[in-house]
Amino acid sequence: MKVLVVGGGGREHAIIKKIKENPAVTEIFALPGNGGIGKDAVCVNIGAKDISAIAAFACEQGVDYAVVAPDDPLVLGCVDVLEEKGIPCFGPRANAAILEGSKVFAKNLMKKYHIPTARYEVFQDMEAALQYLETAPIPTVVKADGLALGKGVLIAQTRQEAMDAVRDMMQAHIFGKSGDQIVIEEFLTGPEVSVLTFTDGKTVVPMVSSMDHKRAGDGDTGLNTGGMGTVAPNPYYTEAVAKRCMEEIFLPTIQAMNAEGRTFRGCLYFGLMITPDGPKVIEYNCRFGDPETQVVLPLLKSDLLTIMQATTNGTLTQDMVQFSEENACCVILASKGYPTAYEKGFPITIPPEIWDKVYVAGASQKDGRLYTNGGRVLGVTAVADSLEEAVRQAYAMADQIHFENAYRRSDIGARALQAGRK
Ligand code: AMP
Ligand code: GLY
Repeated sequence: MKVLVVGGGGREHAIIKKIKENPAVTEIFALPGNGGIGKDAVCVNIGAKDISAIAAFACEQGVDYAVVAPDDPLVLGCVDVLEEKGIPCFGPRANAAILEGSKVFAKNLMKKYHIPTARYEVFQDMEAALQYLETAPIPTVVKADGLALGKGVLIAQTRQEAMDAVRDMMQAHIFGKSGDQIVIEEFLTGPEVSVLTFTDGKTVVPMVSSMDHKRAGDGDTGLNTGGMGTVAPNPYYTEAVAKRCMEEIFLPTIQAMNAEGRTFRGCLYFGLMITPDGPKVIEYNCRFGDPETQVVLPLLKSDLLTIMQATTNGTLTQDMVQFSEENACCVILASKGYPTAYEKGFPITIPPEIWDKVYVAGASQKDGRLYTNGGRVLGVTAVADSLEEAVRQAYAMADQIHFENAYRRSDIGARALQAGRK
């Protein structure tokens, strides 16, 4: 069986390593992949947004199944195009991927179907937004409607900051068309939990919960990044919270999308905040999270490809998805300076015995050797009986990986450990 995976980061590497476990898989293509993924799949230099080239390649190679992992191609309709060519896919069509592609769509859907989320207003007009901010409660949250490389959200601590963000988005167009509409929403408090789910549009099966560490610096300081590490499960996601999420958020969302004629199939990611009033949706993503995937999939005991195919065929069941009771921790090694300016091109050394725990995000390969080629370079994941042990082992492995200017946070898992002890 020939499988194609669209994308080229640590998430895609984790998906590929897991898909490889299925004995029916004979070949995996990664488009574009990266130097590290090249050790586990055939990388083909076609960009994840080049949908016509992806479709042409898939047909030419006789690909049997495609996994579209990143947000951009999903929102642009990559699944629609591949399906038209007769290639079954994992991932939502464009009309469902809009759940991530438009924050205005997501917020209006939640309002219409009474799914708990922060109160909000939508603005197409900058003057109206600025006027609203003159009396809005502070802190407040300003969000660009469309995709913005994960940077389209500003938590404003002052009125001035909020107004500057509105001008940046609507007047200076720093996120291009993504800022044509904005959402201004209530600032919520509480611990955050990421819950990835599998869904075939009828059944929704949550994966093990996880916790991201988005800020660049220890103690959740510094700039927002794509994620500097993750742990799973998330201790704030208790059984009682999980039950409420299923009843108040997960099932209602799937049903709402069906009612709108936008059936969602694939991985639906719920970014949740456990507020004093209960769990609320901070964001939906129409795909696996990065680096959540790097802790969630190592805990998956069932066959990933079988589950993915069941989401496509409408045959997903709860029993099909079994997770280990263990804990996982992923530590990201980045290039010093990330998420702003950094140097690249440094050789990377990874002891071969830990290769199966390593998920490469930003590396190129030359003569069999890996070189740094991105902000986030790689992640290393440990699985153990306790979270404490998983954290210890992840850092022990991170210490064995070397490249010049490597940077990592030293407190991945610290908050979860503290919460778990309470
Ligand atoms: P997003 O890009 O939607 O994931 O938002 C980035 C981060 O901003 C989230 O992970 C939260 O930490 C924070 N955030 C987003 N919306 C809110 C909100 N309404 N209240 C508080 N924090 C928020
Ligand atoms: N880790 C957050 C995301 O994938 O959007």
